[in-house]
Amino acid sequence: MRKISILCICIIATTFIFGQSSFSFVGPDKEVNPYSYIVIKRGEFKQAAVSSAHPLASMVGAAIMKRGGNAFDAAIATQLVLAVVYPQAGNIGGGGFLLARKVNGELIGIDYREAAPEKANRDMYLDKNGNPQMNLSLAGHLASGIPGTVAGLFATMPYAKLAFEQLIQPAIDIAAKGYVLTEKEAANLNGVRESITKNSTQPSAFVRSIKWKVGDTLVQKDLAATLTRIQKEGARGFYDGKTAELIVAEMQRGNGIIGLNDLKNYTAKLRNPLSFNYRGHEIISFAPPSSGGILIAQMMKMVEKYPMSKYGFQSTKSVQLMIEAERRAYADRAEFMGDPDFFKVPVKTLMSDAYLSQRMSDYNPEKASVSSSIKAGIIKESEETTHLSIVDPAGNLVSVTTTLNNSFGNRTVVGGAGFILNNEMDDFSVKPGVPNMYGAIGGEANSIQPGKRMLSSMTPTLVLKDKKPYIVIGTPGGTTIPTSVYQALINVIDFNMSVGDAIDKPKFHHQWLPDEVAIEPDFDSNTKEQLIKMGYKITPRGSIGKTEGIRILPNKRRETAADKRGDDSVAGF
Ligand code: DON
Repeated sequence: MRKISILCICIIATTFIFGQSSFSFVGPDKEVNPYSYIVIKRGEFKQAAVSSAHPLASMVGAAIMKRGGNAFDAAIATQLVLAVVYPQAGNIGGGGFLLARKVNGELIGIDYREAAPEKANRDMYLDKNGNPQMNLSLAGHLASGIPGTVAGLFATMPYAKLAFEQLIQPAIDIAAKGYVLTEKEAANLNGVRESITKNSTQPSAFVRSIKWKVGDTLVQKDLAATLTRIQKEGARGFYDGKTAELIVAEMQRGNGIIGLNDLKNYTAKLRNPLSFNYRGHEIISFAPPSSGGILIAQMMKMVEKYPMSKYGFQSTKSVQLMIEAERRAYADRAEFMGDPDFFKVPVKTLMSDAYLSQRMSDYNPEKASVSSSIKAGIIKESEETTHLSIVDPAGNLVSVTTTLNNSFGNRTVVGGAGFILNNEMDDFSVKPGVPNMYGAIGGEANSIQPGKRMLSSMTPTLVLKDKKPYIVIGTPGGTTIPTSVYQALINVIDFNMSVGDAIDKPKFHHQWLPDEVAIEPDFDSNTKEQLIKMGYKITPRGSIGKTEGIRILPNKRRETAADKRGDDSVAGF
C-alpha cells in the first residue's frame, strides 16, 4: 500500500471508554482510533475496498466488511460516520443517491433526495416585485428540503447482512467520545463559525468560544443522542417522535416551513438505473431526479465517434471536443430535466444516438461554439457533497453520493439534535432563467412544487467491462460532478490511466451558461492558450470535485484511489 499524503494526529485521550457492543471496534488502541489516524490516498486490496472523504469513515466501512458485512452494510456505516466526522457534507440532514450492482447482476438505485415541504410554492423565494432573494434559498431555515438520508439508509437495509444497530454503533461512539480534527476540518469549522452562529437559534458543538485548531477533539453529544434514537427506533427515530419534534421546533424558531407531516410522509424511492455503452464498456449511472446519468451518457456518446486516444490526453483537440459536448448536454439539462414524478423527462430521446449526433451536427473542431446560439435540442415528446465508493469481497459494487448542497448546508444546526440541515431548495430553479449557486439555470421542469425533488447533478456511477464489474466512481462538486465523472472515465478508457491518475489529473468544466471554460490551477498552459485563440473564454478556478474511485484489475485486486484534493482516504483488505 502506498501512503502518499500522511497526516498524523497525536493520541490525546486514552481514558475514554467506547460503546461496548460487539461492534465496538472504535476507540483508543482499537482498530479504528479517532484520536490517531492517517490519510491514505491509494491502495490495492485483495478483497474489499472503500474510498471516502474521511479516513475514519473509510476505515469503519472496511472494518464492517471484515466482520462479515457486505458493500451495503459498509455503505450504511460509512455514511453514518461521515455524518459525524465530515459535517460539511456527510449528513443525516440532507439527501443522496445510492447506486449498486449486486454480484448476481441486479442493479439498484435508491433515491433519497430531499423534497420540497407541503408549504413550499414556486414563488417562495421571490420578493413582491418578483425578484429572487437568493439568500433565502441558500442559508437559514427556509433553504432546507425535507431530509432524505435516514430513509435512504433504511431503504438500503434489505440488501445488507448485519443489524442496523451494529452499523450505527461506530458513528455513535465517535459522536459521543469525539474525534481529532485535521487541519482542513479545523479551518472549515472556523470558516463557517459566523454563519452557523447567525443562522442557528441554539448553541451547537460546532461553535465554541475559541477557534478550532488541528488536534482538537470535536465531541457531539446531541448528535450522539439523535443517532441513538435512530438506533433504537429505526427511521421513526428521525421522522417521528423527539427528533422530528426538535426539527419542527427549530423550523418554528427560524420561520422555516418543514412540518411533522412532511417528515412522516417522506419516503425514499427506487429508481431504475440508466445504462449505456461506451467503447465496449457498460456505464451505469443515476436516473432523474439526478441529471448526472443522462449528462454523462450524452457527453460520452457525443465524443465516442472521435479518435480520442489518438488526440491525446488534454491536447487542444480532445479538450475542445469534450467542451463542446459539455456545452450541448448542459443546455439540455436546463430545459428537460427535473423530478420525473412531476415532469416528463425525455430520457430515452436525450440518450439516443440519433438525437446526439444531431446535437453535434454544428460542431466545428476549429473554433468555439457560442452558447447563445446552441440552446437545448428539439424534442418532439413532450460545493459540498461527498461520495463513497465500495467493493466487497463477493464483488458487490456500491456507489453513493450524498449532500447538504453547500458546505455545511443551510448553516442551521437543529437545536438539541446536533445536526446541520441542507440548503437543497437552491437546486430548484427559483425563477426561470435565474442562475442558482452553481450558475445553473432551469425552467418549468425544475420549478418548485410541494413534494417535488429538486434536480441534482450527483452522478454515482458503475462501469462493467466484458460484463464484469470494473469501476465504481463518483464525486461532489455541484454542476461540475458530471463533467468530473465524464473526464475521469475518459481518462481510464481512452487515455489508459490508472483510476488514481484519472482522478488526480487537472479538470475543466463547461456548463453551457455561463459561456466559459473553468479550469483547475494545474491545467496545461499550452492547451489553455490554444483554446483562447479558438475563441474560448477561460476562467481559472480552484479545485474541481473530490472523486473516489475503485477499479477491479484483471487479477481481481481492487485498485483504490481517493482524490488528492482533500483529506479523502482509502481503506481495505
Ligand atoms: O445535488 C446537487 O447537484 C448538488 N446539491 C450537489 C452539491 C455539491 O456537490 C456541492 N459540492 N461541492
